[in-house]
Amino acid sequence: MKFKEMLKIELKKNEDFPENLLDLLPRGYQELNHIAILNLKPALRKYTSQIAESMHEILPSLIAIWHKSGEIKGKFRQPQGLVHLWGDTNSEIIVTENHVKYKFDFTKIMFAKGNVTERRILPTRIKEGEIVIDMFAGIGYFSLGMARTKKPKKIFCIEWNPEAFNYLCENIQLNHVEEIITPIFGDCKEKIVELKENYIRADRIIMGLLPAPVDAIPAALSIIKDEGAVVVYEGVEEKESTKLFDKFSEIANREGFITTIIERRIVKIYKPHLYHVVIEILVKKK
Ligand SMILES: C[S@@+](CC[C@H](N)C(=O)[O-])C[C@H]1O[C@@H](n2cnc3c(N)ncnc32)[C@H](O)[C@@H]1O
Repeated sequence: MKFKEMLKIELKKNEDFPENLLDLLPRGYQELNHIAILNLKPALRKYTSQIAESMHEILPSLIAIWHKSGEIKGKFRQPQGLVHLWGDTNSEIIVTENHVKYKFDFTKIMFAKGNVTERRILPTRIKEGEIVIDMFAGIGYFSLGMARTKKPKKIFCIEWNPEAFNYLCENIQLNHVEEIITPIFGDCKEKIVELKENYIRADRIIMGLLPAPVDAIPAALSIIKDEGAVVVYEGVEEKESTKLFDKFSEIANREGFITTIIERRIVKIYKPHLYHVVIEILVKKK
């Protein structure tokens, strides 16, 4: 039986829960290490304790239930409004996915389950000996998996949120990739200037930030090698749109590069008719 149906049946037993709200119950929830994170419609928020109560009755393997009322927001792309409802109060966890360990506090740091395929695919694209710059590294979402392949010569991971940066440093150790990843704290546009001054040039640049980090494209191109370099660019657009690539190309052409799409992947639905998209772009100096 589906989660919503099971929850409805359980809540019907609770006299304090209004029957007319049963249809508003969510169809699912996010689960991280047996911790459920629910997003409830405003009308249900007065009844969070009844819902949590019923939820752990029907899902005995859960160790905690949290409610998330906000979206991922701000310059650090942090989750908003996480409130503990039931069970274990610890919010610092280690998630293991595709053999990579990610330690983070889910009340402060985003971890999109829907990006699991992308976290698995990106490392498979890496070539032996590459120098990679991950401009928006977070806790190492993409770079930890890439480093574990042992293929890149070096990955420079730049992150400006102190909390995410601390987890990035811990995750580098947890995954034993200290030799490959160099974490750098600060604004990627400024840190790229410093890397360039130290004669670093990249074969591959990861620009994993939503909305698409258009203003960081010139910085990325300024440090990329002249031939056969790849930019992995993220953004949100319609299913068949070429807007993201066109905008990237317009800037790249101005900066003296030719661009070709290697692959465009849809990560997940972002909003109705809008998709979280990843484009791998081959760039070559004219
Ligand atoms: C949350 S990650 C993106 C998540 C990832 N794409 C995923 O799929 O899970 C983006 C990170 O970029 C960081 N960031 C944003 N702007 C930045 C900048 N100018 N310099 C360095 N880090 C930046 C944010 O703090 C955030 O941790």
